Amino acid sequence: MKFFLDSANLDEIKEIASTGLLDGITTNPSLVSQQGEQKGFHELVKEICEIVQGPVSAEVLSTEYKKMVKEAEVLAKIHKHIVVKMPMTEDGIRATKHVSDKGINVNLTLVFSSSQALLAAKAGAAYVSPFVGRLDDVSTSGMQLIEEIVQIYENYDFRTEVLVASIRHPMHIAESALLGADVATMPYKIFKQLYNHPLSDIGLERFLADWGKK
Ligand code: G3P
Repeated sequence: MKFFLDSANLDEIKEIASTGLLDGITTNPSLVSQQGEQKGFHELVKEICEIVQGPVSAEVLSTEYKKMVKEAEVLAKIHKHIVVKMPMTEDGIRATKHVSDKGINVNLTLVFSSSQALLAAKAGAAYVSPFVGRLDDVSTSGMQLIEEIVQIYENYDFRTEVLVASIRHPMHIAESALLGADVATMPYKIFKQLYNHPLSDIGLERFLADWGKK
């Protein structure tokens, strides 16, 4: 399973990249706007692309087909690592099909149903991003959706990678891995939580104390 960081914060990205475990980055307009106005959007994603040796998702802001295509072409030229994020709308699917056919990698985002994921794959998206946390928030199983998408893609040999997004805790990652999802994109805090288990801490403390007694 590939690990992506869901962040536009350069300090977080540099720290996690230094572990050697980071495979890519996803950003979205909310995450970019949290970084303030110091850098322009294109400058920021370019810098992220230079830090991370893997795909970096940058989202279009237009909502109309022709403008989305134009924006995607501009974003794709920023760096070879760029994956253009398109929102799940009718125009988004049309734009995904158009630019994917021309060789631009697309991450189809804001996916909340398996029929939307089927459209993303038919349109040739490189990644589909189902939002598990936001589904859980409205009492619908995010993991059930991952199971369905993995099965559907397997049934038809779709090459679109299942990128689990809106991850809220380490169990979302473990369960996604059990279901065979290709990628988990997680906030910095959740990446750090993956290391933790109280029994690991207690066990190490005991080993070191016993060693000290000899
Ligand atoms: O990048 C999109 C997604 O991961 C957002 O997560 O926590 O805002 O639902 P969240």
